[in-house]
Amino acid sequence: MKVSIIGGGGLVGSCAGFALQAKGSVREIALIDLNLDVAEGQALDIMHGSSLTADQDIYAGGTEHVADSDIIIITAGLRRKPDESRLDLINRNVSLFQGILADMKKYKLKQNAICFVVSNPVDVLTYLAMKDLDLPQQQVIGLGTALDTTRLRGILAKNLGVPPTQVQALLLGEHGDSMVPIWSAAQIAGLPLDKWPGFTPAMLQSVEKQTRGSGAEVIKKKGGAGFAVGVAIADIVESIVLNQKRILPVSSFQTGAYGLNDVCISVPTVIGKNGVEGHIEIDLWPKEKMGLQKSARVLRETIDKVL
Ligand code: 2OP
Repeated sequence: MKVSIIGGGGLVGSCAGFALQAKGSVREIALIDLNLDVAEGQALDIMHGSSLTADQDIYAGGTEHVADSDIIIITAGLRRKPDESRLDLINRNVSLFQGILADMKKYKLKQNAICFVVSNPVDVLTYLAMKDLDLPQQQVIGLGTALDTTRLRGILAKNLGVPPTQVQALLLGEHGDSMVPIWSAAQIAGLPLDKWPGFTPAMLQSVEKQTRGSGAEVIKKKGGAGFAVGVAIADIVESIVLNQKRILPVSSFQTGAYGLNDVCISVPTVIGKNGVEGHIEIDLWPKEKMGLQKSARVLRETIDKVL
C-alpha cells in the first residue's frame, strides 16, 4: 500500500509519516510538499530510523505521486491562532485547499483511492473534497473527532490514574467548538465511568474543558499539534490498510444517521479498505443527539457560506 501525504514537510504531515513508519502497516510513504527541500529532510530523518522500525520506502516528491497512491492524506493548510476557532480558518484555507484538489485532479487517481482530509476546518474541507474529487463519497473521509477522542481518553486517564488504552470514551460532531462528548458510552476497562473511584461530575466537566481547549493550548505552547494528530491519522490508516472495519469517530458524508444529511461530520463509522463501510447509529442521550444535530447545523451554515 502506498500513502501520499500532501503537506508532508510540515509538522502534522511529517508526524503522520513518522507514525505510519512506527505502525509499519504501509509499504510506501511519499511526503509531498511545496517546500521539497524540507520534505526531503523529513523523509531522510524518518528513513534513517527505518532499520529499527519497518521495511518501508519513504521519500519526498511532487503531486504526481497521488496517481498511484492508495491513500492520499491532505494535511497542508494554515494553522489557526490560539484565539481563533477552526472555522475561522475558512477564508484562508478554502482557496488553498481548492488549489490542492485542482492539482490532484491533474492526475487520474486509482479507482479505489481513499482521500483522507486533515487540514482545517476539516469537516468543511472533507465536504469540499467529497464534492470536488472524482471519487465515490465513501472514499473521502476526514480526521474529524478522532483526534479529540484520542485526547479525551488520555486526559481522562491522567485525571483518574488509569491506563489510557483502557479508557473508552468519545466525542462526535464537529472537530471544533460544537463537538459533543458522548458520556453515555464512557467506560474504563469495560466498567462504567460514573462508578469509577475518583469520578465526580466536576472532574468530568474539567476533562471536557481541557479536551476542548487542548488544540489551542498546544498551539499556544509549541505553535501547533503534531504527535497526537500523527498517531490518530496512523490509527485510521491502519483500519483501511488492514481492512479492520473498526468503528471510528471520523468525518464523512452523512446520509441519515442521527437525522444528519448533506454534511460531513463525525459519527461512529465503520472504516475498512473501501473507506466508509457504514455509519453506526446507536441510541444516545437526547442531549447528545441534539448536540450532534446542532453541530451539523453549524457546519452546514459554514458550507453554505463557501459553496
Ligand atoms: C488540533 O486540534 C490540528 O485541529 C487540530 O490540533
